[in-house]
Amino acid sequence: MVILSVESTCDETAVALVRDGREILTDQVFSQADLHAVYGGVVPEIASRSHVEVIYQLADRALDAAGLSRRDIDAVAVSYAPGLIGAVLVGVNFAKSAAAALGVPLIPVHHIRGHIAANYLAYPELTPPFVCLAVSGGNTLIVDVRDYTALSVMGATRDDAAGECFDKTARVLGLGYPGGKLVDDLARGGNDLAFSLPVAQVEGHPYDMSFSGLKTAVVNLVHTQAQRGTPLNQADLCASFQRAVSLSLVPRAVAAAQEKGYDTLVAAGGVAANRRIRTDLDAAAARAGLRLFVPPLRLCGDNGAMIGAQGYYEYLAGHTAGSELNAYACMELDAMGEAAHGKRA
Ligand code: KG4
Repeated sequence: MVILSVESTCDETAVALVRDGREILTDQVFSQADLHAVYGGVVPEIASRSHVEVIYQLADRALDAAGLSRRDIDAVAVSYAPGLIGAVLVGVNFAKSAAAALGVPLIPVHHIRGHIAANYLAYPELTPPFVCLAVSGGNTLIVDVRDYTALSVMGATRDDAAGECFDKTARVLGLGYPGGKLVDDLARGGNDLAFSLPVAQVEGHPYDMSFSGLKTAVVNLVHTQAQRGTPLNQADLCASFQRAVSLSLVPRAVAAAQEKGYDTLVAAGGVAANRRIRTDLDAAAARAGLRLFVPPLRLCGDNGAMIGAQGYYEYLAGHTAGSELNAYACMELDAMGEAAHGKRA
């Protein structure tokens, strides 16, 4: 089954063709990073307009690159939540039109489910159940993936997402946007014990996390040093910051997999590209005797193929939509069906 899959929830426009949920035929990604860099973050209006400009061309380019024609498309999958609402609407509207014009099923896919499914593309041997640490720009979740479409959240951030915290740290250090990769690069030469930064616990909720205290601590530290005129070792700060983020994420993810009695731990999302987090996950999983799957770098960030991967399994589970499908800024990962949409719109 060949699925044309569409992703437009933030600042990447992406269209892919995926076979049977596991094989990428082509994955066309247009990053808007340059358009937003001058503003230091994503400008929603600019994001929506850019999606409108490129999405049709990307779809044509995808068919060309895969050597397929429109008749080869068996279904259209689209990332319909969560995300910047104007941006998501562009992808949803395009996918609805494409499915209607081709006369094929339309499959709505939760964006974070897609991030998790990116691993199915890279690792044929990976099957549920497993626990996934899903860390992106807008979400930080520990997820029990019981089956391809049976997922529940074991823990989540109570405030900022880990990616947001990376971006804020980069911004206050004047590194630029998007910040995660820049912090990651700078941290390479730094001493991770140079600064003592908070690692929050949420009482009574062992798998929940909080990053707002860490973000504030970094901002205060940078401002205080600037006011005193004391030079700040940015590499040390980035390394110490990454240590704090990793200490928030990695032990919880490992403990969650152990609690469930699973032998497999998975990571997903843009922040899963981080070297420190990948290294720590590797070591912690080995210590705990868990198999670890982390997506290759090109599948960590937003892409269309991950939507086609999850879309295949949603289709097999009968999760298709009609022309009434809408876009949603927020939606629980475990919500399915119209009742959930109504609540969360
Ligand atoms: O998954 P993603 O591409 O988009 C969302 O669905 O949100 O994640 C984007 C986030 C941004 O916050 C970006 O700074 C962060 O992932 N990121 C990183 C790295 N590369 C991207 N964070 C830490 N280290 C990296 N190497």
